Amino acid sequence: MRPDFVKLIEVGPRDGLQNEKQFIPTEIKISLIDKLSQTGLSYIETTSFVSPKSIPQMADAKEVITHINPNKDVTYGVLVPNVQGMQLAIAHQVKEISIFTTVSETFCQKNINCSITESLERYKTVIHLAQQNNIKIRGYISCVVGCPYEGKMSPLAVTNLAETLLKMGCYQISLGDTIGIATPGDIKKLLYVITAKIPVKKLAVHFHDTYGQALVNIYEALHWGIATVDTSVAGLGGCPYAKGASGNVATEDVIYMLNGLDIKTGVSLDAMREASIFISEQLHRPPYSKVTVAQMKE
Ligand code: HMG
Ligand code: MG
Repeated sequence: MRPDFVKLIEVGPRDGLQNEKQFIPTEIKISLIDKLSQTGLSYIETTSFVSPKSIPQMADAKEVITHINPNKDVTYGVLVPNVQGMQLAIAHQVKEISIFTTVSETFCQKNINCSITESLERYKTVIHLAQQNNIKIRGYISCVVGCPYEGKMSPLAVTNLAETLLKMGCYQISLGDTIGIATPGDIKKLLYVITAKIPVKKLAVHFHDTYGQALVNIYEALHWGIATVDTSVAGLGGCPYAKGASGNVATEDVIYMLNGLDIKTGVSLDAMREASIFISEQLHRPPYSKVTVAQMKE
C-alpha cells in the first residue's frame, strides 16, 4: 500500500504564520512563499481570505497573493470560510481554495462562528461560485481525533462528513489532527473506518505535532496508502481557536523521513532547509533543523 511518491502540501505561510502573535511584515511572508516556490513543492497554501478580526495575521492576504512571484509549477491555494472570502479568491485569480469545517460543534462555533450544518450551507454557495469559475476545492475536517472542547471524536462522524464534503464538490479531504493528540493507534482506527467508504486517493493527512506524534502518524498513514501530506516549513503552526494546538509537522522532517524510505516528493531538502532558516531568523528563533545537510553528508 505504501506510495512511491508523496505530494506535500506546504501550509506554513497560512497555518504556520496564522498563529504568530506579532504581525509579520507582508514582505517577509512574500519572501517566504517565493523561497518555498523554488524548493520543488507543487502546492503552497499561501494565505487565508478570512475575517481580519478573527485572524489578524492574515489581514494582508490580498497584498500577499498579489505580490508573490508565482512559479508556474506551483498551485497557490487559499483558505476560504464564506462567500466574502470566495469573492476575494475569484477577484485575485486563485486557482484553488480550501474550505474547512469540523466534527466538533463547539470548535465550529469558535472557529467560524456557526454550527456544522450552517457551515455546510455556507459552503454550498462557496462551492457553486468556485465551480462557476473553474476553481478547485479542497476540504479540511478539523479535530478528526479529538477536540479541545469536546474530547474524543468518532471516526464514523469524520467519515460521514468527509463523504458529504466530497459529494458537495471537494476533490480531496484533508484530515486534521488540529491539536496533535492522535497516536498511530488513533490514526489506524480512523483510516480503517474511513478507507472502507472513501478511496484513499481522495484523502490527505494534516498533523500537528503537540505530543511529537506527527511523524509516526504519517508513517502509519503511508501504510494505508495516503499519498498527500500537509506539512509546514520549520514546524510553524497552530490554530488560535484550538487551545493547545501547536506547530504542524515540519516539512523538512517529513522530507528527511520520506527520503529515507525511498519515497519521492520532488522537494529538495537543502532548499527547504534554507527556507526554514530564513523564516526562523525572521521570527528571531533558533534554526528549527538540528543537523545541517552538510553535516549529514560527512
Ligand atoms: P462572523 O463574525 O460571523 O462573520 O465570522 P461576519 O460575516 O459577521 O463578518 C464579520 C466581519 O468580518 C465583517 O467586517 C466582515 O466584513 C468581515 P465588519 O463589517 O465588522 O468590519 N469578514 C471578512 N473579511 C474578509 N474576508 C472574509 C470575511 N468574512 C467576514 N472572508 C467568519 C465568521 C467565518 C468570517 C470568521 O469566523 C472567520 O473568518 N473565521 C476564520 C477562522 C480561521 O481562519 N481559523 C484558522 C483556520 S482553520 C485551521 O487552522 C485548521 C486547519 O489548519 C486544519 C486543522 O489543523 O485541523 C485548516
Ligand atoms: Mg492546521
